[in-house]
Amino acid sequence: MTDVKVAVLGGSGWMGRIHTMAFQTFPHFFGTSHGTARVVAIVDRDPARADDLARRAPGAKILQDWRQVVNDPEIDLIDICLPDNLHFEVAEAGLKAGKHVFCEKPLANTAAEARVLADLAREQGVITRVGHAFPRNPVHDLAKEIIEAGEIGEIKMFKGCQHIDVFGDPLAPFMWRADGDLAPTGIVGDTGSHVFSFMEFLVGRVSALIADNLILTPKRPVVDGLAIGGQTELTGEERWAEVTNPDATNLLCRFENGAAGLVDFSRTATGRKFRQTYEIYGTKGSLAYDYDEVNRLRFYSHEDRPGRAGFRAIDVGPEHPSYRAFLPLPNFGLGYNESKIIEAAEVIRSITTKTPMWPTFENGHHICQIVDACMESSRLKRWVEIPST
Ligand SMILES: NC(=O)c1ccc[n+]([C@@H]2O[C@H](COP(=O)([O-])OP(=O)(O)OC[C@H]3O[C@@H](n4cnc5c(N)ncnc54)[C@H](O)[C@@H]3O)[C@@H](O)[C@H]2O)c1
Repeated sequence: MTDVKVAVLGGSGWMGRIHTMAFQTFPHFFGTSHGTARVVAIVDRDPARADDLARRAPGAKILQDWRQVVNDPEIDLIDICLPDNLHFEVAEAGLKAGKHVFCEKPLANTAAEARVLADLAREQGVITRVGHAFPRNPVHDLAKEIIEAGEIGEIKMFKGCQHIDVFGDPLAPFMWRADGDLAPTGIVGDTGSHVFSFMEFLVGRVSALIADNLILTPKRPVVDGLAIGGQTELTGEERWAEVTNPDATNLLCRFENGAAGLVDFSRTATGRKFRQTYEIYGTKGSLAYDYDEVNRLRFYSHEDRPGRAGFRAIDVGPEHPSYRAFLPLPNFGLGYNESKIIEAAEVIRSITTKTPMWPTFENGHHICQIVDACMESSRLKRWVEIPST
């Protein structure tokens, strides 16, 4: 049995903690026959977190500089949970050192950077993965299975959205996510990329789009050290920072297979704590998903008897291996963290079986192309073509 040695970068953050947990946890559900993971290094620039990190991963090296791990011969997998602007530099260094690389989304700030990473990974013959975990909820494997079996026919239309309201209040404090230097594509790379991952997974490549990116609150008060979802009282003494990347986007698109798309996403939808939906309309039927019913897919089939046709609700259950890994009965509820555990198990299985699994850096490149096209289209105020690779 192979024990894959992992370095988690950005280990104190939201994703860093979840990834560490997921690597340590997945064998309880998926067994050890496709390998295990050992977190042997955690990097976070905040030295105050070192003791806590050491307790989370006993025996791991706790470091402050990511450069100390990329060339460490003990490490097999570089796991990047750092802010977006560091993804390209760190992934490139990891790949050049011959490491497998797992990178949180968005893979890079531009499609050109993502192309460099996907090409480098191919040359190095290593396994890559982007952290688009939402589609790894087994309910979306069910959707893919229905699509691939031809049960909804030819896909004609995709509608999707994702909204949160962390920036719904104009006084909500500034954080790196609103800083165009640290997160150049703002909500497009941050949240749009999740919707794009569903499009890539379930419908296929996007060939053209027109997008309208919006900055809805131009300035926000700065509160140092506040993470996403953090609450604080303002003193009135804060300095104000300019929001330099998009808060919200509306877009129309065309897929290479001829389907049309209508998509919107934002971080400013007051009251929408986390809204994620898609609808896929085909020539023989339709699918609809709403994260509020996290394991439930709605399926409509033309083949149902006249007078009895209607959307039926299907709760994904133990017929699907990655659901069965956790629970023996349907509708007990698999959530976000389980999707990340499934993802960690797949990353390790990819490495030990030398089998790339969706979404690789190649898929991440396509998603970055969609992000780029949104930025360009909104700037130029016109449709933008996305070249196929
Ligand atoms: N897949 C998903 O559903 C999902 C959800 C949230 C975030 N993300 C992505 O994960 C990444 C991290 O987001 P987060 O919410 O965990 O952020 P976060 O701010 O909670 O964590 C980032 C961590 O990186 C550390 N850090 C920052 N710069 C560093 C440096 N130079 N060297 C070492 N450590 C450094 C910080 O101290 C912090 O602990 C982002 O790219 C984000 O887009 C993905």
